[in-house]
Amino acid sequence: MKAAVIELRDGVYWVGVKDWGWRLFDGLIPLPHGTSYNAYLVKGSAKTALVDSVNPGFEGDLLAKIGEVADPAELDYVVMNHAEPDHAGSIPAVLAASPKAKLVLTAKGADMATRYFRVSRERMQVVKEGDTLDLGGKTLRFIDAPFLHWPETMFTYVIEDKVLFPCDFLGAHTAAGLYDDEVADLAVRAQMYFGEIMMPFRKAGERAMKKLADLPIELIAPSHGPLWRHPERILSLYRKWTAGETLPKVVVAYVSMWGSTERLVRIAAETLLGQGVQVAVHELAHVDVGDLAGDLVDARAIVLGAPTVLGALHPAALNAAYLVRTLKPPLRYAAVLSSYGWGGGALRQAGEILGPTGIEVVGAVEIHGAPDADAEAQAAALATQLATKIRGSER
Ligand SMILES: Cc1cc2nc3c(=O)[nH]c(=O)nc-3n(C[C@H](O)[C@H](O)[C@H](O)COP(=O)(O)O)c2cc1C
Ligand SMILES: [Fe+2]
Ligand SMILES: [Fe+2]
Repeated sequence: MKAAVIELRDGVYWVGVKDWGWRLFDGLIPLPHGTSYNAYLVKGSAKTALVDSVNPGFEGDLLAKIGEVADPAELDYVVMNHAEPDHAGSIPAVLAASPKAKLVLTAKGADMATRYFRVSRERMQVVKEGDTLDLGGKTLRFIDAPFLHWPETMFTYVIEDKVLFPCDFLGAHTAAGLYDDEVADLAVRAQMYFGEIMMPFRKAGERAMKKLADLPIELIAPSHGPLWRHPERILSLYRKWTAGETLPKVVVAYVSMWGSTERLVRIAAETLLGQGVQVAVHELAHVDVGDLAGDLVDARAIVLGAPTVLGALHPAALNAAYLVRTLKPPLRYAAVLSSYGWGGGALRQAGEILGPTGIEVVGAVEIHGAPDADAEAQAAALATQLATKIRGSER
């Protein structure tokens, strides 16, 4: 069977694979629409380069696709923008098939290629910011972009075609579509992906965005999801997200066993809605981490609702609180709602986890048992206080 290869520009090909069936990435991130591993072949008049590879298990597909447009045994370069196995995992197979190909990577990438893939140093060609490779009428330029998504990452840019290969950066987890205008909910998918993968590295993302501002870009070809033939669509979003711009919006993340915490949460959420604040509610026992992470990208505050279980936060809330701490969203304010049966403990632990984040805890309502009218009034008052803070701050 002929392998499907897509010519994006004269001499620039998509040779990636779509993985419709994969459902959980990194043991953490749900993939309701699968994902893609986009690899690219750039053919100059003299030399040929592969940019990134695909997830292990798809090596045969990749080599077959390369074979449609070039001799896989005659590659000159394999560019490793990132060492994570979803992009670099097939590099050993490609290097084995193509004996003279050099692996082009950053100095940190070289260490990782040794540790993860046992590539020998003789096969590597280390590049740094601004270095170029002349393929004959096609020039690859390398852009240092550390921590997008790991310390070793870089971008590759084809000068003549104004095509950018930013690997994980500017991507989205979906197997749907080839181009941005073919996927209706792509902005939402991209926001979830940013929250899950790039948000902890917002500062690195901001630095990369400054570098990209000076670059003429006609096509952004990331390693996951559709290609942006309207680059400004994703660049304008990333400018906001990497800068940590927030909306007058609250993420309400809660879990409740017998409905007491939930009652407080409902009052708080409805009070916030009534005061012109956007509210995104996530029930934590069933939450999709991607939905939650996506909403955290531009929310200004979080309300955490959780009862005490065994002297601590309900485990589902504990997990969410840790996620908030590690994903480093640009949240400014927090409030906690909780119910306990005898000794409590949830509130104390919420404070311990949120304390180091720098998020201002505006207040908490902790009740013994089920809420009475006074407790309900306290929840409403706390929500009003939060709404005032949210509306009073610019971003
Ligand atoms: C499995 C389990 C463990 C609990 N452990 C504690 C505890 O250690 N300390 C405490 O004060 N209450 C504990 N409770 C009581 C709950 O915190 C209390 O029933 C609370 O009102 C539940 O709020 P909810 O209706 O929002 O689920 C526990 C309840 C359950 C079901
Ligand atoms: Fe990655
Ligand atoms: Fe990736």
